[in-house]
Amino acid sequence: MLQTPRLQTVRVYRWNPEKPNVKPYMQQFAVDLNKCGTMVLDMLALIKAQHDPTLSYRRSCREGICGCCSMNINGVNTLACLTKVPESSKPIVIYPLPHCYVIRDLITDMEQFLKQYQTIQPYLKRPGEENFIGIRQILQSPRDRKKLNGAYECVLCACCSYSCPPYWWLGDKFLGPATLLQAYRWIIDSRDMEHKERLSKLRDFYSVYRCHTIFNCTKTCPKGLNPGRAIAQIKRLLAGLTKKERPDMETPIPHPCNGEDIYQCREE
Ligand code: SF4
Ligand code: SF4
Ligand code: FES
Repeated sequence: MLQTPRLQTVRVYRWNPEKPNVKPYMQQFAVDLNKCGTMVLDMLALIKAQHDPTLSYRRSCREGICGCCSMNINGVNTLACLTKVPESSKPIVIYPLPHCYVIRDLITDMEQFLKQYQTIQPYLKRPGEENFIGIRQILQSPRDRKKLNGAYECVLCACCSYSCPPYWWLGDKFLGPATLLQAYRWIIDSRDMEHKERLSKLRDFYSVYRCHTIFNCTKTCPKGLNPGRAIAQIKRLLAGLTKKERPDMETPIPHPCNGEDIYQCREE
């Protein structure tokens, strides 16, 4: 039996750098929701397959893990694969992330964002132990591990950073909520031994302090994380109002001569 089509109007931002004389415009589609899955990413796939194969957008995992399908859907920065198609008489309006250079259609230029992420050195740092990397486990108590909850889940989709007004205006100097959440994640990791150096790199006029605690970032995060709180915690650490706790467990390093375990004492 033939199903009655469930037609939904969708308006999508289009711009093609190969046609420099054509200004950006909104293209309208009438999509039959019976023919696609429940998420906005499924709907975009249907548009690309059946309406216009030139529509460009990023996607990979289709389950909120890779962070590449970030876009602005009905005024909210979010992941298309985690957003249900809002079936409605009003059109669904889809733009690329705001205040971001556009490469083509819904594909934005993430170079600045990723370069900033690189500056926080998002990896474990244990000076003096370079020879032991990958050779042994670095111990962490369940209590210390719990401190990473709410930070490690970030998929670097940049929805929060491009919803943050100070990041729109000073994105070349202010690190923005996504990068600062990750900076915080490494600062508080009980296994990392460079928290003082990490903090001192953030101690300037722009990197952290342009955050005005408006919490747009927290409101928009499609993974339910709270970068605004992480930034507030970094400010407390910078101001000396709180200190990183000593790790519950130290990881021994083998003595180079007799092989016995020795414990490197860490400063608080
Ligand atoms: S809380 Fe800070 S980082 Fe988050 S949106 Fe507001 S100003 Fe930006
Ligand atoms: S904190 Fe949330 S919105 Fe920001 S980059 Fe991470 S997952 Fe995306
Ligand atoms: S496709 Fe990977 S997060 Fe959406």
